[in-house]
Amino acid sequence: MSDQSTPPKEPTGQSLWGGRFSAKPAEIMQAINVSIGVDKRLWEQDIAGSRAHCRMLAAQGIIGSADAEAILGGLDTIEGELRDGDFPFRDQYEDIHMNVEARLAELIGEPSGRLHTARSRNDQVATDFRLWVRDACDRTVVQIHALQHALLDQAEANADALMPGFTHLQPAQPVTLGHHLMAYVEMFGRDAGRFADARSRMNESPLGAAALAGSPFPIDREATAGALGFDRPMANSLDAVSDRDFALESLAAASITAGHLSRLAEEIVVWMTPQFGFATLPDDLTTGSSIMPQKRNPDAAELVRAKTGRITGSLIALTTVMKGLPLAYSKDMQEDKPPVFEAFDALDLALTAMTAMVAALIPNRERMAAAAGAGFSTATDLADWLVRELGMPFRRAHHVTGAAVKRAEALGVGLDQLPLSELQKLEAGITDSVYGVLSPEASVASRRSFGGTAPDGVRARIADWKERLA
Ligand code: ARG
Repeated sequence: MSDQSTPPKEPTGQSLWGGRFSAKPAEIMQAINVSIGVDKRLWEQDIAGSRAHCRMLAAQGIIGSADAEAILGGLDTIEGELRDGDFPFRDQYEDIHMNVEARLAELIGEPSGRLHTARSRNDQVATDFRLWVRDACDRTVVQIHALQHALLDQAEANADALMPGFTHLQPAQPVTLGHHLMAYVEMFGRDAGRFADARSRMNESPLGAAALAGSPFPIDREATAGALGFDRPMANSLDAVSDRDFALESLAAASITAGHLSRLAEEIVVWMTPQFGFATLPDDLTTGSSIMPQKRNPDAAELVRAKTGRITGSLIALTTVMKGLPLAYSKDMQEDKPPVFEAFDALDLALTAMTAMVAALIPNRERMAAAAGAGFSTATDLADWLVRELGMPFRRAHHVTGAAVKRAEALGVGLDQLPLSELQKLEAGITDSVYGVLSPEASVASRRSFGGTAPDGVRARIADWKERLA
């Protein structure tokens, strides 16, 4: 007796595959097997997959049109119940697929048993999950674009706002806040690209692979693929039901995005310290301390930074689940959903919170400009001047500049306040035109090479991105 000829007559209490079994599953069997609490999130995809499959079965003459009508009507009712929160989720039916099928049997009786013709839960879950991950990638790209817009607006407002550029978190060369923020626009642009790439690779339909070997029925896989927005059916039925690389690839993209978010979050945390004082966030995006009245804590930034743990953890979790599984489906793969749901939930929160923080960030331009000139940050400009104006080899210019920094440090002044006589003791050819390159403004304005920090260049990159995202 096969599934399709014997619809579940008593859907409550019996599992859908009970025909071969004489005992009900042990409590522990059910406890470890049940996944409805997690995979109920696939309900929209499950209904969509069943509709496409049912229409195809009818169009191919595999089931009758009256049965198909009854099934589609039942699915409509079930969709309404799910949407309204009235659907009776039941652990005894294990997962979303069997919960829907059992409910269909209750609603329409006999014809419900024909829906599972030429289909298995293996291709069904692979299809549902691909659809879900595809949607999640699309949503994430939209969220990344919103974050990029917030960064672009701040970058535009601060295209010429001086700040120290760091290496090793030591003052290195002056940059502008606009330039700094645009670095993140580039990073998040690549992140969005990774989600888009993952989407295009995953957009093939597993439906019709059936259990693992394909189907003896004259199914039309192109039709179901098209109905579900897939580009084509997957070309190997074993692969279709047994790989989850699309989920892994999306988690890898999520993990890299989370890494970028955590770096920006860390910078906000650092900028908000009184020691840096480069920026603040408004009250509604910070928290206070229950004991220290003066505190203003960047909790949201810290939590964005921390979400990376969950997201990257999810990638490790699923990579480990998939490792060493023989073809084709194994129940191990039911453990694919929790990490993916968890990672995308965390990424959703992190992107939304970061977008709010970037939009609301209040830079302290005076503090940043003062810091931009500190730490002999224009030393490279002096060395470059020696090379350009005196034809000195860069290595020697580096040495002379080092000596100038040492002298300025001893006198307790900045490089731009070092008297010309002092500079000339180190290199007789130096003239007072050197002071034209020693201010942070001049340093920044001189870096006109493509991709450099000169404000006009930064504004041009902002314009490029606004056009790209329009
Ligand atoms: N709930 C299962 C999962 O998520 C559906 C597929 C079950 N297939 C099977 N052969 N038992 O993987």
